[in-house]
Amino acid sequence: MTVLQLQELSKTFNGIYALSNINFTINEGEIVGLVGPNGAGKTTLFNLISGRLRPSSGKILFQGKDITGLKPHAVCKLGISRTFQSSRPFPRMSTLHNVLAGQVFGKGFSLHTRPEDEQMAHELLDVVGIAHKAETLAADLTLSEQRRLDLARALATRPKLLLLDEVAAGFSPVLVKQAIKLINRVRERGVNLLIIDHFLNLSQKVADRLLALDHGEKIAEGPPDIVMKNREVLRAYLGMRYQDEEDD
Ligand SMILES: Nc1ncnc2c1ncn2[C@@H]1O[C@H](COP(=O)(O)OP(=O)(O)O)[C@@H](O)[C@H]1O
Ligand SMILES: [Mg+2]
Repeated sequence: MTVLQLQELSKTFNGIYALSNINFTINEGEIVGLVGPNGAGKTTLFNLISGRLRPSSGKILFQGKDITGLKPHAVCKLGISRTFQSSRPFPRMSTLHNVLAGQVFGKGFSLHTRPEDEQMAHELLDVVGIAHKAETLAADLTLSEQRRLDLARALATRPKLLLLDEVAAGFSPVLVKQAIKLINRVRERGVNLLIIDHFLNLSQKVADRLLALDHGEKIAEGPPDIVMKNREVLRAYLGMRYQDEEDD
């Protein structure tokens, strides 16, 4: 069963291709790392999948259903949730209420949260390790706690596919280790993940496969250890020239 299928997906801004003809599939149970240097098109791909932007051409299928051009709330309701490159909590709301706000988008609007909703929100805060901050204003959380809240709020919509944008950017090795544990815990809940990971510090350890982009084009896909040795990928990251190629 395929969870997500991208077919010949392209996006132009003022005639310039930010993404060009991307074909890719995420299978049931998979964690995929989306890698590539700055400007490669990673966030644009998230914006297309989550409905924030319309593709210029091509199709997006989610669990076999064509979702191309659907609005973000409709995409979310079908089971795709995301986090953003920078944390965006509702700052004047408690941590717990931020998570409850996520539930509303997942299941349809309801003004009154039920006791079981609140229990689920507490559980999710526990999953991400900030249960003790439930009553704290989101604005008073540390940056790493806000990232955990982003994750809990996204999970509250009960996604089948979760898109994480640069979750581990700027994380120390200790925080990366915690993030890996957390992601595996999310996977155990039956959630598939697509993780943007510019610095490759997370996805090489948790991803089943990588999708590598450069200048809007797919340059490689496959298991992390193979993709990370790929010439095009090394060239994209390190600007390698391979002047000795002709001698090979
Ligand atoms: N809303 C936009 N309008 C114009 N150009 C954009 C917009 N969003 C992204 N781009 C351009 O698309 C390219 C890919 O950007 P982006 O998807 O943010 O890359 P990444 O997340 O891999 O760093 C860049 O050249 C960027 O300037
Ligand atoms: Mg980006």
